[in-house]
Amino acid sequence: MTSSPVIEIEPLTRHIGARVTGIDLRQELDPAQIATLRRAWLDHIVLVFPGQELSQEDLLRVTGYFGTLGKLSRPAEFRPSGFARLLPNIMLISNIRENGQTIGALPDGEMMFHHDMIHAEKPHDATLLYSVEVPTHGGNTLFASGDAAYDTLDPAVRDRVEGRRARHHYNYGSTQRGDSRGIAAFAESTHPAFRTHNETGRKAVYVNRLMTVGIEGLDQAESDDLLLKIWDHSEKPEFVYEHVWGVGDLLIWDNRCSTHARSDFPSDQRRLMLRTTVEGTRIPE
Ligand code: SIN
Repeated sequence: MTSSPVIEIEPLTRHIGARVTGIDLRQELDPAQIATLRRAWLDHIVLVFPGQELSQEDLLRVTGYFGTLGKLSRPAEFRPSGFARLLPNIMLISNIRENGQTIGALPDGEMMFHHDMIHAEKPHDATLLYSVEVPTHGGNTLFASGDAAYDTLDPAVRDRVEGRRARHHYNYGSTQRGDSRGIAAFAESTHPAFRTHNETGRKAVYVNRLMTVGIEGLDQAESDDLLLKIWDHSEKPEFVYEHVWGVGDLLIWDNRCSTHARSDFPSDQRRLMLRTTVEGTRIPE
């Protein structure tokens, strides 16, 4: 009888990220393996599975280990036309252009820190990103721990914001605040500015530089000042793991307690990622 290899989980930084090896995600996992991965994900916020060789079916199956597959809510013009075979609810993130059109969303360059879909009523719990083509340099994805940022936030700032809600707004396709490439606002939402995680019970900063436009109950000048302080604190290098992509890397991040950003990359090099999500729920106060 052959025993399956032991799953190794190695933290990548003090606050966020772990590399997972000893696992081939082409194979169906058993309940004990799934429980190990889910525990590691809650503990480390971001899991990195280097060098996997996944089909789209594999990606959808792995997504299901972490919850209910999220439905794509993008408008039709963001659906790629040039990709030969794309299964439902997989989104392309890519700068590749065919007939002058990009085949994926979020095509070019640097992107500010954000929580995915925070502008929606029920932002999703997790995002998975699988790399198919990567540039020779740049296009790294940076992840910041909202838990660590909250725990170490200046009490004077924290106390002004504690218990308040923040407003979020997003123009689809924007990678920078006020970016004119985004299309007209798709949605606005409000959520607690500090979010309690429904599984770990930990509190995390839940505002971000790309999409948060104000804190309710404060005048705009004070709200702007506090938000700037929170963003500058949350994005400090000690709270961040920066992932340099190799082909075949699969990452999953917990969108409830982290933000992510992307570094710039050469526009004449191809970058292609497959992305799925795990549905979230309405966020309690
Ligand atoms: C995203 O924000 O979902 C995409 C991040 C990336 O392209 O690295």
